[in-house]
Amino acid sequence: MRISAVLCGFLLTAVFALAGCATPDRAKPATTSSLYDRLGGMPAITAVVDDFVGNVATDTRINARFANANIPRLKTRLVEQICAGTGGPCTYSGRDMKTAHAGMAISNDDFDALVDDLVKSLNKFKVPAREQKELLGILGPMRQDIVSR
Ligand code: HEM
Repeated sequence: MRISAVLCGFLLTAVFALAGCATPDRAKPATTSSLYDRLGGMPAITAVVDDFVGNVATDTRINARFANANIPRLKTRLVEQICAGTGGPCTYSGRDMKTAHAGMAISNDDFDALVDDLVKSLNKFKVPAREQKELLGILGPMRQDIVSR
């Protein structure tokens, strides 16, 4: 009798332990969603890119570079690029970064200025530090294809 009670207790513990193992996601749903979802999807990415390109337009460090740019197309492609790069349902339709910036003689300072303009928008839209870091971690490595002097 006593042995079966102990055995029963053991089995119950094992069942609960297994049940716990079977539902690990319940404890951490937010940490496993894509960066795209955590940023707020297309509406949030579009709003950030609009604001960011607005910052670039008034940034005298780099705005001359965009004098002949097709701004609506640039915005569309930036949104696509960020959407696709963060795990969203988009396909980037533009040129690769090396081709797109070829012959522009972009410097590290130019690149830093542009990132600065982006961070201003991310802060304005209250994108949390973790998501900012992840996004910059995706865009940062593009420096080697964009900077050419
Ligand atoms: C992380 C950094 C950057 C990203 C992700 C980025 C992204 C892009 C994208 C997606 C395009 C469009 C390509 C296409 O239409 O095929 C583009 C074009 C362009 N980018 Fe960048 N870029 C970055 C840095 C810079 C910097 C630092 C400058 C100059 C200061 C710059 C100047 C331009 C210009 C002038 C165009 C051409 C726009 C046009 O012809 O309409 N970019 N960039």
